Amino acid sequence: MNPLPQIVILDAGGQYCHLEARKVRDLGVYAEVRPSETPAAELAGARGLIISGGPNSVYEPGSPTVDPAIFAGGQAVLGICYGQQIMAHLLGGEVRKGEKGEYGLATLELDETTDPLFAGLAGRQQIWMSHRDLVGAVPPGFSVAGRTGTCAVAAIAAPARKLYGVQFHPEVAHTARGREYLANFVFRVCGCVADWDPRHRAPAIEEEIRQSAAGRSVFFFVSGGVDSSVAFHLCTRALGADRVRGVYVDTGLMRDGDTDFARRMPGVSVEDAGEQFLGALAGVTDPEQKRHIIGEEFVRVQERVIESRRLLDEQWILGQGTIYPDTIESGGTAKAAVIKTHHNRVAGIQQLIACGRIVEPLHLLYKDEVRELGRELGLPAELLERHPFPGPGLAIRCLCSEFDAPVRSSPEGLIIPVQSVGVQGDSRSYAPVLAIDALDHDRATALVNRLSGVNRVIAQVAARAPLAELQVRACSLTAERLARLRRADAIVRRLSQESDYDRRVWQFPVILIPLGTAAAPDSVVLRPVDSVDGMTARSVPMEPGLLEKMSAEVLRVDGIAGVFYDLTHKPPGTIEWE
Ligand code: XMP
Repeated sequence: MNPLPQIVILDAGGQYCHLEARKVRDLGVYAEVRPSETPAAELAGARGLIISGGPNSVYEPGSPTVDPAIFAGGQAVLGICYGQQIMAHLLGGEVRKGEKGEYGLATLELDETTDPLFAGLAGRQQIWMSHRDLVGAVPPGFSVAGRTGTCAVAAIAAPARKLYGVQFHPEVAHTARGREYLANFVFRVCGCVADWDPRHRAPAIEEEIRQSAAGRSVFFFVSGGVDSSVAFHLCTRALGADRVRGVYVDTGLMRDGDTDFARRMPGVSVEDAGEQFLGALAGVTDPEQKRHIIGEEFVRVQERVIESRRLLDEQWILGQGTIYPDTIESGGTAKAAVIKTHHNRVAGIQQLIACGRIVEPLHLLYKDEVRELGRELGLPAELLERHPFPGPGLAIRCLCSEFDAPVRSSPEGLIIPVQSVGVQGDSRSYAPVLAIDALDHDRATALVNRLSGVNRVIAQVAARAPLAELQVRACSLTAERLARLRRADAIVRRLSQESDYDRRVWQFPVILIPLGTAAAPDSVVLRPVDSVDGMTARSVPMEPGLLEKMSAEVLRVDGIAGVFYDLTHKPPGTIEWE
C-alpha cells in the first residue's frame, strides 16, 4: 500500500466516499479512501480523516463503524451525515430516528462561532440533506453550531479536540458553500498543504511508467474506451511508440465506427474475431447464456494473442487501464466485476499479474481526472466524452425471443411479450414490457410500480403499422439483425451529437427488439438515461422536434417496423435490456 495521503476518507458505505475524495482532490490535496474499520494506528500518519456518509443506521447490527481510538489522538476528524452520527454514537451522544426524513434541499442556520471549520460561513444557507436518523443529543464536550427546521443538530464541534460533524453533505453541488466547508477542514483544521494537481499529472505518471517498465515493452488489450486509450497513450509517450503494442478484439458486436477508431490508434492492431463470436452465439436467446458465451470466447481470443505474440517472454509487461474506483472494494459496478473475472481467468494474464509484470498508470485517478489528463495529452474530445459502452457490446442490446407471440391488450396498454432484464432490490427480474400511448414518465413510473407482471414501460413514437398488428417472433442474434441495430444506433448517435443532446445524458443505449411485421421484423427502443455511476438511473425526456427527426430517420432503416421510448427508471428497469 502507498504511504498515507494527507486526508483519508473512511468509507462508511455507498458511493459518497468517492465524491468526498474527489472534492478534496479538487482543492489540491491528495485524498484516498480506506475501509471505515481501518485501525487508528494505520491512520496515524494522515493529517485529517473524513468519515463518509452511508445508507445504514448506526443501531443496525453489522452497520459500518470506525475505530474509536481515532477520536482520542488529537487527529482532525470530520463526520459527514452517517459519519456525524457514528461519531456522536461512539462518543456518548444519542442517535435516533427523526420524526420525518429530510431529503433534498434544506436551509441551514449556522451560528457565529470561532471554530475554524465554520470560519466565514455563519448565517442562512442552502444545503443538501439525505437522512432519517439524526443526532438527538451531542456527546459530552461538543456544541451545536447549526440547525435546520427538521434537524436540530446539523453541525457539531469539539474544536479543542479537532472533532467536527455535519449532518448535510458538503461534497454535493446542491450545498451552496460545500466547497468552503471542505476547504476549511482541509486547510484550517488539518493544516494540509497543496500536494495534488489534477491537471499536469502526465510527466510524473510517465516517469512511473518508465520505472515500472525497467527497459521492457508494454502490451495492452485496448477496448477503445477512455481508460485503456489514455493509459495506452501515456505509455507510448513514456516509452516511445516502438515499445508499446495494443490489440483490439473486434467481437463483431461493436458499434459502427468503433473498430475503425481503434485501427487508427498508432501501435494498435485489430484481432478480427467476429465470426468466432457470432458462430458461438448462433441460435442462443437467453441473456445469461449470451453473456457466458461472450466471456468464454474473450478468454479464448486473449489466450491466442498471448501465445502468438509470445507475451510471456521476459521482455513484456502488461498494461491496463484500471482506475482508482476499480481498485477498492466499494467502487465499480457489480457487472464490471463480472466482466473482470472473465479477463482475470485468462491464465497468461494471471501469470503476468502474479509476478508483478503489470503497469496500471491510472490506478490513482478518478474518471474525471482521467478525462482531464486525456485533454492535457491532446486526445480528441470525441474519445474523452464517450458514453460508457458495455464489454459484451451490442449483444446485450439485441433482444432475442424463444417464441412467436402476439401483442396482448390490457387495461393499461399493450403487453409486448419481449422479456427484458430489470432489477428490484438485490434481485433480477425478467419480464415483458408494457407499451402505453403517451410519453408520460409519471404515468409510466406509477404503472411499473403497481403492476406485477411487467418491469418496464415504453411509449410508441413512430411506426409503420398499428401497434396491435405487430408480432413478436422467435429469433436469435444474427449478423443481419446486428447490422440493423448498428445502423439505427449510428443514426441516433449522430443526431444526439449534432444537437448536443448527448451531453445531457450519461448513456444512450439503442435496443433492437423482435417486434414487427413480416416485411419489417424488428423495432427499436431509445433508452437515454442520466446517472452518476450506472447503479441507479433516470430515463431522460427528449425535446419533441429532435425525437421526431430521430424516429423518422430510424424508421427508414430496412427491417424496422417501429420506434419506442423507454420511460423506465432504474430501478425497476436496468439500463441495458440484455
Ligand atoms: P445495467 O444494465 O445493469 O447497467 O443497468 C449498468 C451499467 O453497466 C454497464 N454494463 C456493463 N459494462 N461490462 C461493462 O463493462 C458489462 O458486462 C456490462 N453490463 C452492463 C451498462 O452499459 C450500464 O452503463
